[in-house]
Amino acid sequence: MISLSNVQFYIDEHHIIKGITFAIGEGETVAVIGQSGSGKSTILKLILGLYEPTSGDVVVDGINLGHLSERDLRQIRKRIGMVFQDGALFDSLTVGENVGYYLLEHSKLKLTDIDGEVVNMLEFVGLDPLIRDRLPDELSGGMQRRVAIARALMSTKPRIMLYDEPTTGLDPQATKRITDIMLRIREQRNVTQVIVTHQIADAFRVADRFIMVEDGRIVFDGSGKELLSASHESIISFLGPFNTAVAKHCELLEETGN
Ligand SMILES: Nc1ncnc2c1ncn2[C@@H]1O[C@H](COP(=O)(O)OP(=O)(O)OP(=O)(O)O)[C@@H](O)[C@H]1O
Ligand SMILES: [Mg+2]
Repeated sequence: MISLSNVQFYIDEHHIIKGITFAIGEGETVAVIGQSGSGKSTILKLILGLYEPTSGDVVVDGINLGHLSERDLRQIRKRIGMVFQDGALFDSLTVGENVGYYLLEHSKLKLTDIDGEVVNMLEFVGLDPLIRDRLPDELSGGMQRRVAIARALMSTKPRIMLYDEPTTGLDPQATKRITDIMLRIREQRNVTQVIVTHQIADAFRVADRFIMVEDGRIVFDGSGKELLSASHESIISFLGPFNTAVAKHCELLEETGN
């Protein structure tokens, strides 16, 4: 579904991505981890075709993004749902209008049918459909992020979901609701998911594979078990107190088969 081959990326003279190669198969859920500034968000932008690599290839759903027109890129982006860290909802639209936005704009469905779809999607992400008349400002940060996931799922029926720090700054309960949704998407929708996160426990809960980025390069690509037994110094320092015992204690090794 997604492959990067020998991708290098410069912004002006800054060498940001220094030769990255990986392939993510259909239905995989992959966590991209790494220190702040390592290049994680840049990788998402390369997958979205928002950045064009200086060299190397980015292929999404079988299509090489190199030299595509903005129009063709937009077609491909329709297969991708993106959840930004701040939720990025339209402030002046209600929750229901946010979630139903794409259908309101691009389909000929009747309003009552769109409303039915909105209700289903809000229920899918564990929100009370009654909140659809509220404005985003009136919701907590965790609820806003769930609305953002609902909107992304609804708008494009995506084959790929990309999340940038979806659980950062949320309390444990709100975090669990988000990771539950990712697990549900994984199980029920055969969607390929890429989750950029600093939250190692969340990554363990949802991902079947981990890619660690350091200074624009991949320093690890493998399972959770392999990550926990890696001897690379920066991996050990990134994991900090998180180890096999903690993962077992939190029952994180069983759920994803890691
Ligand atoms: N427009 C830009 N111009 C110059 N440098 C940039 C630009 N955007 C990003 N960078 C640099 O590229 C590097 C990677 O940035 P990126 O946003 O991908 O990091 P990240 O891993 O997502 O970090 P964080 O965890 O803090 O979100 C950083 O060193 C950043 O300073
Ligand atoms: Mg980032």
